[in-house]
Amino acid sequence: MLDGDPLRVEAGQPLAAALMKAGLSVFRRTPVSGAPRAPFCMMGVCFECLVEIDGVPNQQSCMVEVREGMRVRVQDGARNLEATR
Ligand code: FES
Repeated sequence: MLDGDPLRVEAGQPLAAALMKAGLSVFRRTPVSGAPRAPFCMMGVCFECLVEIDGVPNQQSCMVEVREGMRVRVQDGARNLEATR
C-alpha cells in the first residue's frame, strides 16, 4: 500500500527502486520549507529517500527490501513523534 492505495510491485527489490518504477517522484517533504525530495544515492548515504513504513517514520527506502503487505506513506515534514513511542 502507498498512502492508503494498493500498489503491486515485485518483492525482493529495494523499496525506493520499486516506488520510482511505479512512478513515485516525491518520497518526502522537508520539515522547514516543504521542498519535495526523492532518492539520490540509492546506497544509504543521502537520506533523501525517507518514508514511513508500517507506521515507523524515517526509514531509508533504498535500504529496505520490498515485502508483501508493507504499508508505505510519503513523509510530509518532520516525523510524527507520537508514532515512535
Ligand atoms: S537514496 Fe540516499 S539514502 Fe536512500
